[in-house]
Amino acid sequence: MLHRVKVLVGVSGGIAAYKVVDLVSKLVRERAEVKVIMTKNACEFITPLTFSSLSKNPVYLNDFSKDGIIPHLALARWADIFVIAPATANIIGKCANGIGDDLLSTTFLAYNGPTIFVPSMNSKMYERSTTQKNLSILKSMGCTILEPDIGRLASGEVGIGRYPDNEVILNEIMRIVVYKSLLFGKRILVTAGPTREFIDPVRFITNRSSGKMGYEMAKAAYMMGGDVKLITGVTQLPISLKGIERRHVATAKEMLNAVREEIEGIDMLIMAAAVADYRPKEIKSQKIKKDEEQLILTLERTEDILKELKERKRDTQTFIGFAAETEEHIENARKKVVEKGLDYIVLNDVSKEDIGFESDENEVLLLDRRGEIIAHIPRKQKVQVAKEILEIVLERG
Ligand SMILES: Cc1cc2nc3c(=O)[nH]c(=O)nc-3n(C[C@H](O)[C@H](O)[C@H](O)COP(=O)(O)O)c2cc1C
Repeated sequence: MLHRVKVLVGVSGGIAAYKVVDLVSKLVRERAEVKVIMTKNACEFITPLTFSSLSKNPVYLNDFSKDGIIPHLALARWADIFVIAPATANIIGKCANGIGDDLLSTTFLAYNGPTIFVPSMNSKMYERSTTQKNLSILKSMGCTILEPDIGRLASGEVGIGRYPDNEVILNEIMRIVVYKSLLFGKRILVTAGPTREFIDPVRFITNRSSGKMGYEMAKAAYMMGGDVKLITGVTQLPISLKGIERRHVATAKEMLNAVREEIEGIDMLIMAAAVADYRPKEIKSQKIKKDEEQLILTLERTEDILKELKERKRDTQTFIGFAAETEEHIENARKKVVEKGLDYIVLNDVSKEDIGFESDENEVLLLDRRGEIIAHIPRKQKVQVAKEILEIVLERG
């Protein structure tokens, strides 16, 4: 996702400096070009060699090179985005007040692109009025400040000030440099994951959906500036979704009720959940004993969420559905898009073992409301597929 994006990482002297090693490694894995500046005090916590080995670039330590290059100006010109992590109270104070007494603070003075500060310190230092004032100055300058986590601090105390998950920082970098703000000010409702239809208190019928595609759709919509709510079935996903409000449901009926409650005033609905079509007609109140040789379950149809929503849909709203088919894919998707009054349908061929369910990758066709194929998105990471689906839909207006 970050191919050719030039990320300048400024490391200052906080206890979390070692955690930035993983951030640099993640950035390199996303194919970003990475250069690292370290303050003198950061070198007390971690050696420049670690960063130069990972970034495959020299680490910049001082402003007085003798080879005719002026590092702070060259680095400020080079960077697409500047991430200061961990940002000590000291570097925050210097950057907010125009002090340039080392390479990191001087580069910040010379740079006018997007900047993310990752404050990380003891909670007393973080809550100190001078630190808060300096952070609001940086905010007013247009910098992004990532709120530190609450938890156990290096001192053993519990409080605010922990360095956040690197996934959160990575998402923020992507949100700023990769995604266009096409959904700014829009309200998006996404459903994801499988539903569970109970047979008795311990058993249920479900399906193979991992929820990954829906979560990636929610994330892409959030990255594009949308105000996103996610209604999710039970999943085991580690995907970081900071900034997205999540509501958990289990059954198709709960999913329908949640959608009914949340649909008011939304601009876009993305129905990526794999909702059960059938559920046991009777749910036993006690665990079924294994007394019988055979057990016959009678199933009944669940509510058709999209059919119900069709009646309420306004012209200004965009509804995107998903079809997971194993045969006669295009015909079935065409039927579904028209019958359910959707604007778009994303068609997955789930009979292919290496894409679709549970996989990190997908290959899809996108059909419009008349059932015409408007795009083929070849096999790629689900995060990229999600981004492309939204870009195509939004470019068509
Ligand atoms: C063991 C130790 C841990 C520290 N951890 C932090 C920290 O997490 N956050 C912070 O703002 N300062 C921390 N400090 C204080 C900074 O290192 C100090 O303010 C220093 O001047 C920062 O320099 P720099 O901003 O130029 O890197 C720590 C100091 C020590 C000795």
